[in-house]
Amino acid sequence: MCGIVGYVGPAQPSTRPLDVVLEGLARLEYRGYDSAGVAVVGPAGLQIAKKAGRLENLRSLLAENPLPDAVSAIGHTRWATHGGPTDINAHPHRSFDGRVAVVHNGIIENYPQLAAELAERGIAPVSQTDTEIAAHQLALEVAKDNDLLAAMCRLASRLEGSFTLVAVDRESPFEIVAARRNSPLVVGLGEGENFLGSDVAAFVGQTRHAMELGQDQVVRITPERVDVVNFAGEAAQGKPFEVDWDVNAAVKGGYDTFMDKEIHEAPHAVSETLRGRTTPEGNLKLDEMRIDEAILRSIDKIIVVACGTAAYAGHVAKYAIEHWCRIPVEVELAHEFRYRDPVVNEKTLVVAISQSGETMDTLMAIRHAREQGSKVLAIVNTHGSTIARESDAVLYTHAGPEVAVASTKAFIAQITATYLLGLYLAELRGNKYVDEVATYLEELGKMPHRIEQVLDHEDEVRALARSMKDATSVLFLGRHVGYPVAMEGALKLKELAYIHAEGFAAGELKHGPIALIEENLPVFVIVPTPRRPLLHAKVISNLQEVRARGARTIAIAEEGDTEAGGYADTVFWVPRTTPTLMMPLVTVVPLQIFASELAKAKGYDVDKPRNLAKSVTVE
Ligand code: AGP
Repeated sequence: MCGIVGYVGPAQPSTRPLDVVLEGLARLEYRGYDSAGVAVVGPAGLQIAKKAGRLENLRSLLAENPLPDAVSAIGHTRWATHGGPTDINAHPHRSFDGRVAVVHNGIIENYPQLAAELAERGIAPVSQTDTEIAAHQLALEVAKDNDLLAAMCRLASRLEGSFTLVAVDRESPFEIVAARRNSPLVVGLGEGENFLGSDVAAFVGQTRHAMELGQDQVVRITPERVDVVNFAGEAAQGKPFEVDWDVNAAVKGGYDTFMDKEIHEAPHAVSETLRGRTTPEGNLKLDEMRIDEAILRSIDKIIVVACGTAAYAGHVAKYAIEHWCRIPVEVELAHEFRYRDPVVNEKTLVVAISQSGETMDTLMAIRHAREQGSKVLAIVNTHGSTIARESDAVLYTHAGPEVAVASTKAFIAQITATYLLGLYLAELRGNKYVDEVATYLEELGKMPHRIEQVLDHEDEVRALARSMKDATSVLFLGRHVGYPVAMEGALKLKELAYIHAEGFAAGELKHGPIALIEENLPVFVIVPTPRRPLLHAKVISNLQEVRARGARTIAIAEEGDTEAGGYADTVFWVPRTTPTLMMPLVTVVPLQIFASELAKAKGYDVDKPRNLAKSVTVE
């Protein structure tokens, strides 16, 4: 979950290598911000600057101590795994002989053995990182033949764990070499210059021509060439693609925070995720479903694997897909999945939901599933990501870049994509007629406008959030598809405002949690539509129960629901949706806004909450 950028360019030394790398790091800072550092190579040799804390700390250091002009550079923003977030542990790490510098994303699991080898040669690390060990080992390798590419192949072949390793060599300033296993790395293709990045945001401001790298590959970039080999040094192929995000998509667009921008992009995220997936007649068309129809007809179970917010999208999907397709849908936290010896086989469809497409827990889960013979469908937002590449089929959400660590528009786009999957399977397996599916699609097509209607009332939500900025605990209740929404609302508050929050099934209240209710305790209740009278009545009872015990009740309810209005201190209205299974696309929006505003009121960094990173690429 670190950010990596690399640049190599024309023979004339300049500040461009450093400028490009710093710009890329700024776009990747959401991946981790415990420290930042750069290494440049040029006439003055290999120079490094690095600093704990955010990127601006590094910029301040560079302002006081400028680096010399260079022809190549690498940079890194860190989310600490081995070794605390200190200056000495910041990347890049220089080798004992000063010849190479390395930045790294991932965990090298056999670094103790590698460190012991170095100790025998009298090479003692100065930091507590696994990365520094790799730098020393790389220097020993490159000293053998002065070939950085071959040296990296030999080193990578000895490493265990997950890594993106990127290295420069002061003896060879016009090349950067990188190796990847289970960790992201993409190449940016320029004119007389080339780039590397943890994801395309690193260089999207410079070029939109990119190249995916596969598992266990090493790449060398020079100003004029890109060479790809496998760890054995044999020629291999990257996969070129065009980046469809533009530079503007990655900046705030007039909002205070990326999160606010992305909350407001949710309608567009839904419409973009639907775009191109219906025929002119309004029927469903999922060309990207590269799994044989006979297999999809034969599956007898679906298991969704995901983490965090993505897992809650999976929980929403469960209600819809089971109802439409009449097959069981299990939702598993990816990090639990492979350790519980799940019942998975060729009749199981595993669906991996991931915004980043790099979540290691989810990646390891799909690998386990495929080893058991099941087909894997990925629902991801980041094109060319590892989970996408390692799945049998990919149903991309087209939410655009989600920069804020807390996921908002991607969550709504994920639900949209799972509905498309459910409708596709229902039609394919004969549970729904084509005209029924078309009706649901038509309703989905109305959701962007319905989300806009909720956004039109955001100021009311923000005012309530500010009034509650001193709350120390908040509960969220929901039933049916409102239950995962309650969980998601709690997660947003936890990760943004650092407030204890708990979401749970409203029916569970009387089995214990009601003991938590006390005077003025804020309790959000996601109320089902009155058109589901049994569900609605029970949740109204729950609302009454908590209010009778002094809770400060805030209802998220369908317009016109007078009962909800009668029993709640505050109501945030959402437009009626048909079918009611689509309610999460609108009921989650006030909860996202509430958490964002409350965090802002507390003076917290909404886009980069403490201890978190946007993409968790370690298990
Ligand atoms: C989202 O608000 C959280 N920051 C986090 O739970 C996230 O959803 C989870 O880490 C999964 O990430 P992914 O969708 O990129 O796999």
